Amino acid sequence: MTLDPQVFMTTMTQRISFSDADKALLKANATWGNTIARQMAEVFYAYLARDAEMNAILTAKEGRMHRLNETFIEWFGEMFTGMDDWGNAYAARRWRIGLVHVQIGIGPQHVVPAMATVVNEVGKQLKSAGLPEDLRDALGRICMIDLAFIEQAYVEVSSQAVLRETGWTEGLFKRMISTGAASMK
Ligand code: HEM
Repeated sequence: MTLDPQVFMTTMTQRISFSDADKALLKANATWGNTIARQMAEVFYAYLARDAEMNAILTAKEGRMHRLNETFIEWFGEMFTGMDDWGNAYAARRWRIGLVHVQIGIGPQHVVPAMATVVNEVGKQLKSAGLPEDLRDALGRICMIDLAFIEQAYVEVSSQAVLRETGWTEGLFKRMISTGAASMK
């Protein structure tokens, strides 16, 4: 059941209709992306730091904030360049980012609003730069693909951990989840 990042990337690309036109638009605006990346990072981490729980995670380790600023800038730029045309390297990198967050215990409740902050801020930046709405849509789509990777990492890591620890089959596990969800209604 272990997720194949490449297959997941293809599925998400189709599901979200991330098109060749989106890719071309992002590439054409990669330089603009670089010019706003640092400011985006500042807005992003100021947003995270306003939340006590997330701020505690950010400041838990010496040098973490600095590292994060740099990795965010890199991440942001990669959405525009696509690394290897949004191929295997891109997918592997996004999967790795998902796993890093799962390891630290950063959950969907943190990541979803954080990505919304990125989408909102980039929308504002686009507007003030007079850039087209198509670019905002393309960025929105790639942000959602990246978000799906982080979210899916939770599901994969959690279920793999249970299956490994218990020796249950996937079928049994799915039935138990379904029964558990029904009993919580
Ligand atoms: C839009 C959502 C997010 C994006 C795109 C993002 C991006 C990244 C990237 C690119 C890395 C580096 C991964 C690596 O080392 O390979 C990272 C690590 C990390 N992120 Fe996020 N992140 C997001 C949400 C969050 C949230 C909500 C938190 C909550 C505090 C957070 C805290 C961290 C921490 C603590 C690390 C590890 C830093 C270290 O010690 O090296 N991230 N993130």
